[in-house]
Order: sequence, then C-alpha cells, then structure tokens
Amino acid sequence: MSVVPFDQREGVIWMDGSFVDWKDAKIHVLSHGLHYASSVFEGERAYDGEIFKSQAHTDRLLNSAKLLDMKVPFSGADIEAVKRETLEKCGLETAYLRPVIWRGSNQMGVTADPDDVRVAIAAWPWGDYFKDREKGIRVTLSDWRRPDPKTIPVKAKAAGLYMICTLSKHAAEREGFSDAMMLDWRGLIAECTGSHIFFLKDGELHTPKGDCILDGITRATAIALAERRGVKVNRRDIRPEELSDFQGCFVTGTAVEITPVREMAGVEFEVGQLIRDLAQDYSDLTHGRLKL
Ligand SMILES: Cc1ncc(COP(=O)(O)O)c(C=O)c1O
Repeated sequence: MSVVPFDQREGVIWMDGSFVDWKDAKIHVLSHGLHYASSVFEGERAYDGEIFKSQAHTDRLLNSAKLLDMKVPFSGADIEAVKRETLEKCGLETAYLRPVIWRGSNQMGVTADPDDVRVAIAAWPWGDYFKDREKGIRVTLSDWRRPDPKTIPVKAKAAGLYMICTLSKHAAEREGFSDAMMLDWRGLIAECTGSHIFFLKDGELHTPKGDCILDGITRATAIALAERRGVKVNRRDIRPEELSDFQGCFVTGTAVEITPVREMAGVEFEVGQLIRDLAQDYSDLTHGRLKL
C-alpha cells in the first residue's frame, strides 16, 4: 500500500483539456460515474519514455466509451498527445498511466446528460505488481464468475466489471494468495482480477478463447512472442478439471507483465525455462531490446 494517499501526491493531472495541480484534480460527489459506474479507463505502462502499445490502449479506451454510449469530447489523436505530455510534465520516463472517462454531475439518475462526459489522464511511477513475481505467484479460485456477454458489455474496460475483481482479490489476499482466478458464467477458466491466463502442456500453450473477457493487449503480445519462438498457442475452452494436466502457468497484463504462476486453484506448477524466456522476451520488447 502506498504511504502517500493517491489524492495527496505531487505533480499534475490532465483534466478535460488542461493540466491541474495533482491535489486539485477533484470531482463532485454527485457524479454519475460514481453512482452508476459510468466510467471506463485504461492501464498503461511507459518504459524509458515510450508508452508500450499506446495506440492500442487509446483505441480500446475509446471503444470502451462507445460501448457505454459515451460521446467523448476528445479524439484519439488528442489522447495520444496528452498521454505523452502528461509524462513530460510529470518528469516521468518509466511510469504507469491511467486515462479515465466518466459521466459528470450535470444530471443525477439513471439517464445521463449525453454531453457531460469527462476525461482525465494521470501518470505515476510504479514497479512490479506482485512481490513474489520471480518465483511465481500463488493464485486461488474466486467464488465470483465473469459474466455472460448478454448481461454486461464484457469487452469494455469499465468500472462496473471490476466490482467482482476487488471482491475476489480481497478474499484471495486475506488467505495469503497474490490473486484470484475467476471462472466464467459457464464454469470455464476465464481470467484473474487484472490479467489473462496461459497454461503450458507438452511444449504448447493453452489460453481461454476470450469471448467473455477483455481483449488483452499483453495477451496478444504474449501470443506473438510465443509464436516467434515457434510455440503453438491454442485458444480454446479450458475446464478447471484440466488444471492438473498442465505443466506450467503464467498470467499476462499491462500491470503484471508476464508473471509466472506456481500455484493455481490448489494445483502446483513448475516455473520452467519457456515461461522464464517469454517473461524475458516481454521485458526486452518493452525496453526496445527486441522487435516483433
Ligand atoms: C480484468 C483484466 N483482465 C486482463 C487484463 C490484462 O489486459 P491488458 O494486457 O490489456 O493490460 C486486465 C488489465 O487491463 C484486466 O483488468
């Protein structure tokens, strides 16, 4: 947990077209985004001054807003420029970026003012997501399931989809695990609270099909890195009963990067050479030492 609360830090945050002092980046308590989860966001990392897959994150952010019926008053090109400016103004080269779009406080009720859409971008220094990343993390099984695409826009990186992630992660951490794995509404393996899952079996990778989870930018990168090494990647339905058939496991995400898993839902895995190599490839790629 950070020592300085997030609203008490030094720096600037871009809000609705201009930079404001970090501590003044406030919103009203009667904001639609707060009451009705009308909020979408991104999590991005910059390495050595370059935002990794910046355009892909901007495209997903705007698509998330579209899925929530939000009219964003800034273009993708505006957001791209502001992300870079935010890093510069904060004096950061290696950082986490958080663009967020939400409905403001013009109207209180389920119906929102269509023109009241707010945008902010913040950046701060951030290291490893998991403490025990090198030796592999321990992941428990969540009681919560990723929802049916007919119940919520599952392809939006939207605040409402994170309610069960927080519940799952709190329950996991209370029991000493680093994270929780969620099944989907059908009982198939889905994802963790902020990352996607891959398994290794006989030299091939297996990952859920992805029809009811976020389209992961790191997931796509991990697939490309594996294929570059000649490793076949199978996107398919994976049942929890199959867990003990796998020889390795790792998770992918902007925050977690490529993190080996040494235990998932009670099944133990070795952190083998291929998984270590892929984690190293990802590090080389993000730091510009490898090109895809
Ligand atoms: C629930 C969830 N799954 C997976 C991911 C990984 O996605 P990405 O690789 O695009 O960061 C994230 C992070 O955005 C997430 O929040």
